[in-house]
Amino acid sequence: MSHDLSELLAQQTSGYSLDQAFYTSPDVYAQDLEHIWYREWLYAIPACQLTKTGAYARVQVGAYNVVIVRGADGEIRAFHNSCRHRGSVLCKNREGAVAKLTCPYHQWTYDLDGRLIWARDMGPDFDPSQHNLKSVHLRNLAGLIYICLADDAPDFDAFADLAQPYLEVHDLSRAKVAYQSSIIEKGNWKLVWENNRECYHCAGTHPALSRSFPLDPAVAGVSADGSIPAYLQAHFDKCEVAGAPSKFVMAGEAGQYRLARMPLEAKALSYTMDLLPASKRPLGRVSVPDAGTLLKFHYPSTWNHFLPDISLTFRVTPISPQETEVTTCWLVDKDAVEGVDYDMKRLTEVWLATNDEDRQIVEDNQLGINSPAYQSGPYSPVMEDGVVQFVDWYKQTMLRGLGPRAVAAE
Ligand code: FES
Ligand SMILES: [Fe+2]
Repeated sequence: MSHDLSELLAQQTSGYSLDQAFYTSPDVYAQDLEHIWYREWLYAIPACQLTKTGAYARVQVGAYNVVIVRGADGEIRAFHNSCRHRGSVLCKNREGAVAKLTCPYHQWTYDLDGRLIWARDMGPDFDPSQHNLKSVHLRNLAGLIYICLADDAPDFDAFADLAQPYLEVHDLSRAKVAYQSSIIEKGNWKLVWENNRECYHCAGTHPALSRSFPLDPAVAGVSADGSIPAYLQAHFDKCEVAGAPSKFVMAGEAGQYRLARMPLEAKALSYTMDLLPASKRPLGRVSVPDAGTLLKFHYPSTWNHFLPDISLTFRVTPISPQETEVTTCWLVDKDAVEGVDYDMKRLTEVWLATNDEDRQIVEDNQLGINSPAYQSGPYSPVMEDGVVQFVDWYKQTMLRGLGPRAVAAE
C-alpha cells in the first residue's frame, strides 16, 4: 500500500481536492495514523484541566491509549494506559482523579510518576523497577499540553520558541475550564481541517459566528503570496506596541503552524451574540480591548483562539476513516465566577452553534465524496488558500513519512 500511496500522492493536482481514497479508504487512514498521528506532536489538553494531584485525562489516538496525570510534585506526565503486567488499561474513564494508578485486573499499583510500587506474589526474582509504566513524550507550552507518540519525537523547540511569547500574555496558568464539549463529526479528519482552513462557507453557514468573525480571506488564510493587507498590519502594530505579540508568522515543515492576532468585526470584542466580552474578568494581560483573536493552528491536531477575555482550544482526533472527534474547551480566568463574571450560555452559544454547523457541512461533504461520481474539484484561489496550504502540508508530510523513494517521486 505504501508504494501505491506514494504514487497516488504524487498524482494529486495542487489546488484541487484529494481523490476519494484519501477521505474514505481504511488503508489511507492507517497510513495517516502511522506517518502523521503517531509521529507528530499533538495538542492534548489545557494544563489547567488537571488542577490537583492525581487528576488525569485519557486521550485516545488511533490504537494508542494515553493517560495524562498530574503528579504529587505538580509535574504533568503522560503514560501509555496499559499495565506492565498483562496489559490491561489502568484508567477507564475519560477523566478523573486517583491517589495512585491501580490496575483493575490484579491491582498492580503505580505511583503518579509511573513507578510500579506494588505487585502481589510475583516471586523473589521480580524486579518492579523493570515494570514501570511506559512514558509518552510530553511538553507543557505556556499551559497547553502536547504529547508525541513517536519513540524519537521530532523537534518541538522551534515551534515552542515561536509560540511562547504569543501565548504568555494570555496567562493560561491562570485559566480554568469553564466548559468542554466533544462532538463526533462523521467525516474524515482531513475534511474537518479543510473546512476549518477557509471561511468561504462562513456567510452561508455561521449566522452567529459571522457577527464577530471577519469574512476577509486574509484573516482565515495563510497569506500565500506573502502580502498582508495594510489594515491587518496596522492591527498587528497596534497590539504589539501594547505588548501583545501579534504579527503573522507561519513556519515548520511545509507550514505546519501559524500564529497571527487578527481583528474581529468592527465593535466585536469577543465571540458573543452581543459582541461584548464573554467574561468580565479577563484571562491574561492583553490590554487592547479590541485586540481580536490570536489564531493559532498546528497540524494535525489543533486550532485555537485566544482573546483578551477568554481562550478557546480545539482538539481534532481521528476516530475512523469517516469519523473525527472535535473537543472544544472554553477557558476563563480561574477567579471568574459563573453567574457573576460570565454567563455559561453567553460564553458558549456562538461556538457550540458554529461547531454543530461545521459538523453538518463536514458530514454533507463526506456523504457527497462517498459517491462513485465524486471527482476532485478546484479550491478557490481567493477564498481557500488556507485549504490548499493544508492539503499541500498533508501531501508533503505523507511523502516524507513514506520514505525517500516517495519523496523522489514528488
Ligand atoms: S494486567 Fe494489570 S495487574 Fe494484571
Ligand atoms: Fe465553519
